[in-house]
Amino acid sequence: MNALELDTVRLSEDRSCLEILDQTLLPGTVKVLRLEKTEDIFEAVKYLRVRGAPAIGVCAGYAMALAASRIETQDYEAFFAEFMRQKTYLSKARPTAVNLFWALDRMERVLRDYADKPVAEIKELLFAQAQQIRDEDVAISRSIGEIGYGLLKSGDGILTHCNAGTLATAKYGTATAPMYVALEHGMTDFRVYCDETRPLLQGARLTAFELHGAGIDTTLICDNMASTVMKSGKVNIVFVGCDRVARNGDTANKIGTSGVAVLAKHYGIPFYVCAPSSTIDMSIETGEQIPIEERAPEEVTQMWYKEPMAPEGVKVFNPAFDVTDHSLITGIITEKGLCRAPYDKAFRELGI
Ligand code: MRU
Repeated sequence: MNALELDTVRLSEDRSCLEILDQTLLPGTVKVLRLEKTEDIFEAVKYLRVRGAPAIGVCAGYAMALAASRIETQDYEAFFAEFMRQKTYLSKARPTAVNLFWALDRMERVLRDYADKPVAEIKELLFAQAQQIRDEDVAISRSIGEIGYGLLKSGDGILTHCNAGTLATAKYGTATAPMYVALEHGMTDFRVYCDETRPLLQGARLTAFELHGAGIDTTLICDNMASTVMKSGKVNIVFVGCDRVARNGDTANKIGTSGVAVLAKHYGIPFYVCAPSSTIDMSIETGEQIPIEERAPEEVTQMWYKEPMAPEGVKVFNPAFDVTDHSLITGIITEKGLCRAPYDKAFRELGI
């Protein structure tokens, strides 16, 4: 199956619900959920049915347009108050990916910018804004792909962590975009190593599913095999995604990313972060200010296993993300250009 043909998240044609590909069931089952209520969309984001920073942003945009379309009052103040109540609620679904807050704020701006318009018209503008967020995401990923493709050479081995693929965006992914764009340019002689990405296995279940399905030479490895694969000279470049990038370039991404970066530095392998500008949070100075989500212990002890794989009652630490220090990053690829350290200056030069 070609994952590029799957829609991660879309609005139903009659605009009555959000259609979300349930990523918790992949790769075995391809099932689309039809979600009408904000509570159900909240649940889908929290439990990673829809996940990946850009896809969460796209989902949040549509969710707010849908929620607003159901608010019955014609009075702007009452409409605004109810919109803000639902926005605040949705903002609590996950803390780390800044795209959630970025998209919610973009939707709120529509209400503020068009406060003089009738409520019915604002509702239409919200649908248009959500669609724009989605369409921009495709274009952004495509540009990141072109820049990343420019860094690839025939025969390269690429390593990636987690899933920053088409399933994590509206299309192309970020870390996978250079690979899909390479295929579009007729380049097929590259290999990809996917870290399985414990505990939720996004690399095994999602990235391997996507890339293998697209006909890319894909090899799945356990997270603790990356060092061996790098040492053997099989990896020439690393592409990863991100959930939030601080002004100085410190990057939060799926837990395990910083370990990959340390290894890449040790073995002299270039390590690139693929970052839509919506994921760059210029309001924070360093990665220390990025809130890191902690998730349920069961994800480590028993999820995916027939029986619990740890003694009952043992303490578990399950941070979903880590922060890679900017000093370990070779470059940050945004849709506007490739940034090199000092990142603060590079971001500003690109107008981010
Ligand atoms: O917990 P997840 O699956 O939402 O984490 C996803 C990642 O860490 C991705 O690498 C990141 O969101 C970038 S997606 C283009």
